[in-house]
Amino acid sequence: MQIELRPYERHGSLNGRAGNRLVLWILADPHYLSPSLFDRQADAFRSILAVNSGKLIEHMPEVMEEFLSRALRERPDAVLFPGDLTLNGELTGLLEMEQMCSHLEAAGIRVLVIPGNHDIDCRYASVLTGDVSKPAERVTRDVFITHMRRFGYDNAISRDDHSFSWIVPLADDLRILGFDTNTTACPGGIPEGTLTWAENVLAQANAEGAAVITMMHHNLLVQNRFMETGFVLKNRAEVFNVLDNHGVMLNLSGHIHLQHGSRENSLTDITTASAAVFPLGYGVLEIAEGHREWNYHREYMTQFQDAALRRMNETCERFLQDTLAQLDISEADRTCMRKAGQEVCVAVFAGWAYRPSDEEAEWGCRLWSERASDTFWGKYIVSAIEQKHMEETI
Ligand SMILES: [Fe+2]
Ligand SMILES: [Fe+2]
Repeated sequence: MQIELRPYERHGSLNGRAGNRLVLWILADPHYLSPSLFDRQADAFRSILAVNSGKLIEHMPEVMEEFLSRALRERPDAVLFPGDLTLNGELTGLLEMEQMCSHLEAAGIRVLVIPGNHDIDCRYASVLTGDVSKPAERVTRDVFITHMRRFGYDNAISRDDHSFSWIVPLADDLRILGFDTNTTACPGGIPEGTLTWAENVLAQANAEGAAVITMMHHNLLVQNRFMETGFVLKNRAEVFNVLDNHGVMLNLSGHIHLQHGSRENSLTDITTASAAVFPLGYGVLEIAEGHREWNYHREYMTQFQDAALRRMNETCERFLQDTLAQLDISEADRTCMRKAGQEVCVAVFAGWAYRPSDEEAEWGCRLWSERASDTFWGKYIVSAIEQKHMEETI
């Protein structure tokens, strides 16, 4: 299976004053599962692959190894983890992720971590080595803080009392504000007390002439109109107003697992796709000397691309099968629609504009718009074909 890995790049402005060029890497949603908790041949493991939305769980240990050795070689100034570090909040996985973060820190690379919705008190934490899944030791909020506080929280110039949110300086004129969007008081949103704290630290940054880049697990802006509920912050309007009013120009998010960027006023929200789905990438944010501009692009891990693409195609096929089965069309036409649908899913998740690979896929696209545009997947696919899901010019 061959596919061209295409670039993804965006750029924008920042309101810093001065300072050297900085390079930040963003690794989103690795959903790492410790090798001690699964067996590839076990029924328990195989059955979760059927419901895992395209993640290449079994190869994430190697993918993380590749990421780590690349980071140790290329030495970005910081590596940011916007949550869902673990598959489903398994303690063993979190401890192994902590070790990886420690390696980076020991090499002088700053590491910044916030939790995702799968990291804390997740009821799906499982051991997948037998015929049936068994409960694994879960990460509680206290355990998460104990192991991850070294990566952001402990170095903060201010911490929030209501959540695991913090603000750390990266340079004299540049700060990163990590929001915890997974509190029990306000899951999927930012608690009121945290927002008040954020207003204060943002006002302080403004007064001191420092730019602030924010990071959160959930999306601040709508990234895909088919994936809004549960993905975009519950209290997005309120949060957006606070950030926008305080001159925040860049937010980094994850959670939705697809690559995208949206802009409202002068604020861009870039969501970095899951490192566990094709094309197994991470974001590279370069802040130019002077801190007035940023440039974001994606890099891809080189191993396991074929396996990741196969997993993505199988997942899309499963998503589409009911819709396709209900259409009164020939088997050959169904094959064309399946092919177009799979290619669209791959492009949407990678953040690439969709181009049909051949005549079959082109015919499949036409069938989606002529025969299935009133179905959920028809609407999704047609909107992607028409590039309506793509970002405005940023
Ligand atoms: Fe995730
Ligand atoms: Fe998530």
